[in-house]
Amino acid sequence: MKVTKAVLPVAGLGTRFLPASKAIPKEMVTVVDKPVIQYVVEEALAAGIHEIVLVTHSSKKAIEDHFDTNYELEAELERRGKDALLQVLRDTAPANLKVTAVRQGTALGLGHAIYCARPIVGNEPFAVMLPDVLVEESEGQSDLGLMTKRFEETGRAQIMVESVPYELVHQYGVVDLDGAQLQPGESRLMTQVVEKPPRNEAPSNQAIVGRYVLPARIFDLLADTRPGAGGEIQLTDAIAQLIGHEGADAYRLLARSYDCGSKIGYLEATLAYALRHPQLASEFRALLARYT
Ligand code: G1P
Repeated sequence: MKVTKAVLPVAGLGTRFLPASKAIPKEMVTVVDKPVIQYVVEEALAAGIHEIVLVTHSSKKAIEDHFDTNYELEAELERRGKDALLQVLRDTAPANLKVTAVRQGTALGLGHAIYCARPIVGNEPFAVMLPDVLVEESEGQSDLGLMTKRFEETGRAQIMVESVPYELVHQYGVVDLDGAQLQPGESRLMTQVVEKPPRNEAPSNQAIVGRYVLPARIFDLLADTRPGAGGEIQLTDAIAQLIGHEGADAYRLLARSYDCGSKIGYLEATLAYALRHPQLASEFRALLARYT
């Protein structure tokens, strides 16, 4: 079955990003010249996914506005003959993009957020994209596109992983691959997965980094998932159950990811994306040279 929808859980309050996230959603913070969430939506489009389901909160209305048509602004740019800017504006919400939103009234965890999307996703496989994470494109290849293709071939969930230092495994979901190493772009059945293990109990240093392709069955499993790490309903715990049913694969990303939910990860993403911005890269490189 084809994967046509991506669920983006954006209800989180972004306390790691205060004070920037006090009055604007952390997903709307700018990396170079676009809000973080726009990169994520463009990543979905590049993977052939055009239906975005936001699991959101009353304080996050700016995200829906960003993907809506701004008629007044368009009319004004049109009147002034600002065609290039008009195109930039229209590209934020291309005609083939469909964005719907559902509310997560109470913050009960990532698993609960995903479960809130059930009425919209229905009985179909879907992607989950955590909006704090930017996945670097590798020579025009789409990791998420490869993951959906592999799901369509095998019917098995695909969970994106990346190596992290062992000192950091306690911040992630960590997969057990029975000691096997994954090559970039490779998928392999995982034997177990555990949410935020202490370093001495981590089955590996292969951490889940915020992209998932999941079968609809995950909703039944989430419905029965009790609070786990941090007292929250964890998506990882439902995936651990899925392993016992149809299995689930870890997929190693081709390049790397950036955690824009942390201040230093955000700064690194800003540097990396500025250095490959089509219009700004060369001036930015010169600027950087003056500071180093
Ligand atoms: C969530 C997931 C975790 C994953 C991480 C990636 O944790 O629960 O499994 O490794 O995202 O960013 P959070 O960062 O929301 O605590």
